Amino acid sequence: VKIKLPAPATDTSIKPIPDADHPFKAPGPNDLRGPCPGLNTMANHGYLPHNGIATFEQIIAASQEAFNMGFDLASSLAALAILGRGNAFINKVSIGGVTDKIPPLPFQIDGPVAGGLAKHGRFEGDISETRHDIGEGDFQNFQDDLYDEFLTYVGRFGGDSTVTGDASVVNLKVMQEFRWHRFQQEVASDENLVYNLARLSVSYNEAAFVITLFPGADAEMNTGILGSFFRNQTFPPNWSRTGTIGTFDAILDVAEQILQAHPVSAGRNINGQYVLDAPPNTGSATTDVHFDLMSGLSASLVTNTTGLLQENVQLLLKVLAAPFGADPTKQLPTGSP
Ligand code: HEM
Ligand code: MG
Repeated sequence: VKIKLPAPATDTSIKPIPDADHPFKAPGPNDLRGPCPGLNTMANHGYLPHNGIATFEQIIAASQEAFNMGFDLASSLAALAILGRGNAFINKVSIGGVTDKIPPLPFQIDGPVAGGLAKHGRFEGDISETRHDIGEGDFQNFQDDLYDEFLTYVGRFGGDSTVTGDASVVNLKVMQEFRWHRFQQEVASDENLVYNLARLSVSYNEAAFVITLFPGADAEMNTGILGSFFRNQTFPPNWSRTGTIGTFDAILDVAEQILQAHPVSAGRNINGQYVLDAPPNTGSATTDVHFDLMSGLSASLVTNTTGLLQENVQLLLKVLAAPFGADPTKQLPTGSP
């Protein structure tokens, strides 16, 4: 299938989500769900296919429509998803685990099967908010114990709600303190912790989604909305998407604010110690992150492809690189198959 970059959405206004055509329907036993509460929610409402298998274009369209995620960010994430954990020849990725509906690429970039977004590495990684690290527990599905800890941080650092009167507002301070807590927790407990630059950056951006996209058009991001998305994977009652587009730069700005409260650097646990990674030093912070993302993607994507697959890969690499300001013909995938 030839992959095409769709045109950006033209309507980016506030609007009620879901609309009448997208009611919640719980996933069945054969529907794939994974580590992303955003994608899971969109699949539960049919903004993405209910079976959890999506194309590049579908992921972009759904993220813009349901959350008003910026076209640049949505297309870059979708490109990473297809390249890293999907099949770029048939243009499909599982938002959960492996499925026989997505066959391997001809030269088996991802081993015998395309792994799906729940497969560890490249996209899914350590120090998530509501999923454990691989090797320590369930790294795919929502975890009550971590979510309960999240709630204690809302209680300690959150703002007072105008609705309930108590500290149930999930604000910047909550995300700053909870992310810092999760970092320290995994440094102390996960002897195999890997927190490379790409994963660090993605994880702070995901934390930013919680206070930029999840509140929607509401003035208040509270624990009711938090539980709706994380636990129930459904849109809250009477919810509208935000009218402020979540562009790459806007989200990155919030991610930076979360990080700056307690700066941490990329690294990994080696023999019980958090050892910093050597910085790529490509010239800018964002091209450094892109460089590290490329070191995770299989080099076979550029060395072993021809024809339609090669064209698709080149398009996806270009779209992925665009918001980072990186040159997709210079910073190439260098990772193992
Ligand atoms: C986490 C993929 C869009 C919110 C993740 C993870 C993946 C992923 C693979 C797991 C990373 C990890 O924690 O190890 C994607 C892709 C998207 C997308 C390919 C395509 C555009 C969204 C949207 C939202 C969202 C639109 C919210 C509006 C989140 C949050 C997490 C997350 C909050 C962190 C979960 C946690 O740490 O417990 N995403 N996502 N994502 N995603 Fe998405
Ligand atoms: Mg994870």
